[in-house]
Amino acid sequence: MTHPILDVLGLSERNPGTYLGSGEWSGTSQDADIQVVNPSNGQPLARVSSASAEDYETLVRRAAQTFTAWRTMPAPRRGEAIRLCGEALRRHKDALGSLVSLEMGKIKAEGDGEVQEMIDIADFAVGQSRMLYGLSMHSERPGHRMYEQWHPLGLVGIISAFNFPVAVWAWNAFIAAVCGNISIWKPSPRTPLSAIASTRICNEALKAGGFPEVFFLLNDGGNALAQRLVDDPRIALMSFTGSTAVGRQVGARVAQRMGRSLLELGGNNAIIVDRTADLKLAIPAIVFGAVGTAGQRCTTTRRLIVHESILGDVVARLTAAYKQVEARIGDPLQPGTLMGPLIDAEAVRRFEAAVEKARASGGTVVSGGKALSGPGHFVLPTLITGVRPTDEVVQTETFAPILYVLPYRTLEEAIAIQNGVPQGLSSAVFTQELKVAEQFLSAAGSDCGIANVNIGTSGAEIGGAFGGEKETGGGRESGSDSWKAYMRRQTNTINYSDALPLAQGIKFDF
Ligand code: UN1
Repeated sequence: MTHPILDVLGLSERNPGTYLGSGEWSGTSQDADIQVVNPSNGQPLARVSSASAEDYETLVRRAAQTFTAWRTMPAPRRGEAIRLCGEALRRHKDALGSLVSLEMGKIKAEGDGEVQEMIDIADFAVGQSRMLYGLSMHSERPGHRMYEQWHPLGLVGIISAFNFPVAVWAWNAFIAAVCGNISIWKPSPRTPLSAIASTRICNEALKAGGFPEVFFLLNDGGNALAQRLVDDPRIALMSFTGSTAVGRQVGARVAQRMGRSLLELGGNNAIIVDRTADLKLAIPAIVFGAVGTAGQRCTTTRRLIVHESILGDVVARLTAAYKQVEARIGDPLQPGTLMGPLIDAEAVRRFEAAVEKARASGGTVVSGGKALSGPGHFVLPTLITGVRPTDEVVQTETFAPILYVLPYRTLEEAIAIQNGVPQGLSSAVFTQELKVAEQFLSAAGSDCGIANVNIGTSGAEIGGAFGGEKETGGGRESGSDSWKAYMRRQTNTINYSDALPLAQGIKFDF
């Protein structure tokens, strides 16, 4: 018997995992099935077939064929196609949000929020489809016109992580689509069901609207086909979301073949709380940032840099708040649950190892620090004081709800601590002082891709460019002008005169 949520979305006990195009799903071989497990109770949910090497070839070939038609369709028409996807997602929001919650373990409100991000980026992409603007330049030569235009790249590979099983795909796939590209998605083997459901919902909406089905999907329990995608010269852009360790390899391999990559890797995000901070805002922002999605967002708050004069007060308030969260750990689909499980047993082991390491570095576990026994991969939200900003455990991203509290004296010191990690994704300051806020945002302030004032580190809106610096990989996706990453710029100079003047005044008479 399958879970009722799977039934609603047309998923069964065993599902073909690969969308080959032309309405065809592949799921023949049984040997390499992905067993999907409910992280809340360790029970199997369903199986998904892995793609074969032949599937891969068929899929890339068909994707390339689809591209030849899609690239010449007027961009606003492509926008209309994505509008239909957004409409379909609106209709399926509740069911898809529940599936994300069931399969990934984030609470239902966050599962729904993720689908809302898909809808929002669809709307954004519709508008963007009419705004793929290039500049025009004044030529230095008489009777010449010079401008630039943006063309699609071709095939875009998307490798996404388990923690945002659908939204990150939509950021990439919808923007890529209005830009005229065809995307090939390799989701995390932890969350293939959400990927199948999203691909289906969107392709069916396209088909019903008379559009080609532009969303290709490739599930694989291992990583052989992901590696093939990364090394395939037919994939013009490789968008990768995941760990810094894997992203480093992806970046190097794609660069080796002169492809483009868009990397969204680890974060080690900090909130600075200065002595003027409004704690009514800061405490809930810290708690949501640190324990939301059980600490499994790339934007999760992992370090809290607090002015020493208010350290005791902040830690006391957080400890009280953590106790409230502890009482509401459980089934992520139950209303009232605030924190679900970690994704798997390995994630729990990493959590425990980090807590151990923090203790060994002289840290004190003020709250949490333990995994829960029983079925499911639950841990307690954890608050640790007494570690140093430079301790290896503090420098490392552990994908779990662990918050290290670090005191500071001067703003310069706080900013140095904030920037003093290899990662550079998200950052925030809580202050009521204009000077502090502006210093934090200045060129000498936060070195991250995201820097907020009186807002936490996670939960970014889709309208901005999302991504970070240093070991976070430098990629930017979602809003602002991130669309440019999915297109190639062409500079065009047109001579409408009767002469052939050369640039730079060069004379070349023969
Ligand atoms: C991620 O964790 O991979 O800003 C993305 C946020 C979300 C996206 C997170 N909008 O927390």
